[in-house]
Amino acid sequence: MNTSMSSTSPTSASQPFGYQSPFPPHFVLGVSASAPQIEGAAFTDGKGFSNWDHFARQPGTVLGGDTLDVAVDHYHRFDEDFALMASMGVRDYRLSIAWPRIHPDGGPTVNQAGIDFYHRLFASMKRHGITPWVTLFHWDLPLPLEARGGWTSRETVDAFGRYAETVVKAFSGAVKHWITLNEIRCFTVLAYGQGIKAPGRKEPEAVVNQTIHHALVCHGLAVRAVRQWGGEGARVGLTDNSDVCVPVTETPADIAAATAWFRDRNAHILGAMHAGHYPEHYLRRVGKAAPKVAEGDFALIHLPTDFLGMNIYTGHYVRAADTPDGYETLALPPAYPRADPPWLHLMPQSIYWAPRLAHALYGHSSLFITENGCGYDDEPMIKGEVQDLHRREYLRSHLREVHRAIADGVPLDGYFCWSFIDNFEWEDGYRRRFGLVHCDYQTLKRTPKLSARYYAQVIRERRVL
Ligand code: NOJ
Repeated sequence: MNTSMSSTSPTSASQPFGYQSPFPPHFVLGVSASAPQIEGAAFTDGKGFSNWDHFARQPGTVLGGDTLDVAVDHYHRFDEDFALMASMGVRDYRLSIAWPRIHPDGGPTVNQAGIDFYHRLFASMKRHGITPWVTLFHWDLPLPLEARGGWTSRETVDAFGRYAETVVKAFSGAVKHWITLNEIRCFTVLAYGQGIKAPGRKEPEAVVNQTIHHALVCHGLAVRAVRQWGGEGARVGLTDNSDVCVPVTETPADIAAATAWFRDRNAHILGAMHAGHYPEHYLRRVGKAAPKVAEGDFALIHLPTDFLGMNIYTGHYVRAADTPDGYETLALPPAYPRADPPWLHLMPQSIYWAPRLAHALYGHSSLFITENGCGYDDEPMIKGEVQDLHRREYLRSHLREVHRAIADGVPLDGYFCWSFIDNFEWEDGYRRRFGLVHCDYQTLKRTPKLSARYYAQVIRERRVL
């Protein structure tokens, strides 16, 4: 392995960086999950009701009426799960902390049993040689905060600031990699605009834009908390589900179109964070629906971070066109290949273009793919094995594009597969499985799928196989 290979210009190494070359030595190959989707124990040891615990109990919200009550019972089985991860060679695991375990009612009261739980969990990870990458907010909001307006309310911002302080202070000894928020669009636009996710509201655009703004301020509060209390070596960044595009041809004209598209479609989140204000293009587009910005908000939103996390699953095809913006987005033909979720079109180049365009536009010196994976419905076992060749193909085709991005000088420093284990897929319940490891929801037995063995070998050999 060529140890002189730098993260930003591996092509400058003496050996050509072909598909068979190993990932750079520092490159992280991990797995990802989140507290509400796997922990279960929804009312154990003083945990408060979350927005999702409540939402899932409303008729017609979650497929099959599934709830988060038990999930895969990771709360009681984390030791077993970390042993399994370690046996797959996994050394980096992205998880989240459940806010309602720490501040059950969203107020200042701290639930010591919740803190103790995560201390036990981090100790177990350490025993198994696994490094935590911790997301502070992966969508589970204490229900009393939701009842008082949730992300539409400034009160949630204050409560989040308190929560971030509690968590960073409590776990700074165990955690050095912090992620502020997961996928702002999902818990704002899809939750308060389209009504698909908790709390299932359909508010006007101005309200939705305000929820995004509140989330951005929370991101800044979390960055500040990590700087103040994270201790030596702590690093922090956002995980964004950017709108992603792929140029139809890799020509200068289509690449320029894709760059402009990416800049415009991500102006209100990545653009705003980068510029320290809402970009003109965005303000013109939203007009009167622009969010209200309080004094000091952008000082927080604009705080420097150490990396950008990107969750990449799919994208849009874009090409240069004679339009006012200079680009057009192409509709996908009905037969375009996809995984089982209707939104998950197979577009491996998206994982190449997303970090490349983000880097080109905002100059991040370090990027991570914090999620990438695919969902398929229940697959019957064949001789005791889930032979998920479609998932293996998805991973392989995406890892090749990750590899290509590194070869082209994109400072991509890691990849986390979503997900370690089948879990609660939000409004799709348990039917849609994203795991490398199969979970039998009757017995809670864990069985690595073919894709888990494949990914374990990738981790072992540190190259795309
Ligand atoms: C992104 C979300 O962060 C995660 O919670 C979800 O399960 C996956 N996408 C798959 O939809």
